[in-house]
Amino acid sequence: MASELFSPLHLSSEAVLRNRIAKAAMEENMAGAGQLPDTQLIGLYRRWAAGGAGLLITGNVMVHAEALTGPAGVVLDDAAPLEPFTQWARAGKSGGGSIWMQINHPGRQIGSDMPGVVWGPSAVGVDLGRHSGRFGRPTAMTPEQIDATVGRFATTARRAEEAGFDGVEIHAAHGYLLSQFLSPLVNKRTDRWGGSLENRARMLLDVVRAVRGVVSPSFAVAVKLNSADFQRGGFDADDARQVIEWLAPLGVDLVELSGGSYESPAMTGRPTDSRTAAREAYFLELAKDLVTTSPLPLMLTGGITRRETAQAVLDSGVAVVGMGTALSVTPDLPDRWRAAREADRRLRPVTWKDKALASAASMAMVRHQLRRIARGADPRPGTHPVVALMSERRHQRRALREYSSWLPTSKGGR
Ligand SMILES: Cc1cc2nc3c(=O)[nH]c(=O)nc-3n(C[C@H](O)[C@H](O)[C@H](O)COP(=O)(O)O)c2cc1C
Repeated sequence: MASELFSPLHLSSEAVLRNRIAKAAMEENMAGAGQLPDTQLIGLYRRWAAGGAGLLITGNVMVHAEALTGPAGVVLDDAAPLEPFTQWARAGKSGGGSIWMQINHPGRQIGSDMPGVVWGPSAVGVDLGRHSGRFGRPTAMTPEQIDATVGRFATTARRAEEAGFDGVEIHAAHGYLLSQFLSPLVNKRTDRWGGSLENRARMLLDVVRAVRGVVSPSFAVAVKLNSADFQRGGFDADDARQVIEWLAPLGVDLVELSGGSYESPAMTGRPTDSRTAAREAYFLELAKDLVTTSPLPLMLTGGITRRETAQAVLDSGVAVVGMGTALSVTPDLPDRWRAAREADRRLRPVTWKDKALASAASMAMVRHQLRRIARGADPRPGTHPVVALMSERRHQRRALREYSSWLPTSKGGR
């Protein structure tokens, strides 16, 4: 039966979400010194916490100091001090909702200008046509590196619980490391981590088992999975259905469905295969199909901005509606929906033909709003994409200098 947006959701770990609206993970690119959450990032979460969402999922937090999705990424490893994370968790819960930390390893999706390591299941680089040089050339991971990385996910999850987070979400979507292992286009291994879907899913399932093994039963464990990679011959909806079945007995509370990667940015509504493009709730058709067989509650994210769309997503049997962009322009959108107040503000659309560049500009526009909210200003949805892109690049350059001088001093790198 369809659920109402403001009804609670009881999860298998006994965690309860107070309503069905979640802020999806958005990497804020705002880490302070030592790749730690600082007052701006914490302020941003206080603002979202006051906005009425049932769940805030943090932007991806890196499990390995040598492998960051961007130079201002937050790292939580064995060496990180816990106090900044405790403050972050407290801010996220200050409005009465829950906060989960998304945990991630980027694998091969690491900028070519970044220090550290670029790893993948195989030595297959990101293909972005004329923009391919943006990413480093990956080396194939050794079995020891795979095992150590599984351990790092568990360490980050354990420390997230110690810091006061209510759960973690393991990022296995959008072409990052776990999604690379799942993809037959990227994973060309011939050992126990490659070939059949069972082998390609091994690393994700091992990460889930390792995480569940170190956190308490009441701590939520979720997985973000592509409903499809939106590439011919890539991970598809049937693969997603099978992986969800394998996840169910491992104590997973929720699976968030998204789609795409840098090579096919479907998560921003720009798959390279444009026949699949939808202007709202991008992955709803795939989710409707998956929901009929899924033994786990599903969350759907991508292209949801209006209350009617959110309700239509729940009506399809999905348990939680995830939103990123909409909450970057209207951080109190859930409260507005509940009180039937005006809420339909949109970011200026980016209509550039180059999908990779348009996708980067859309992300920059969202980040621009996050920075504004974090410093106590109001979002400015009309910001020009070029302005946002330039300002983001300036921040990135400064962050890269800081990360490059911090990394050699970090104890968590090796
Ligand atoms: C600036 C930005 C950063 C993002 N960072 C992450 C991330 O760290 N982890 C993740 O799973 N998805 C990330 N996403 C994708 C969002 O979670 C979401 O799947 C996508 O934006 C589509 O939802 P929306 O249309 O509601 O924004 C990011 C999106 C944006 C715009």
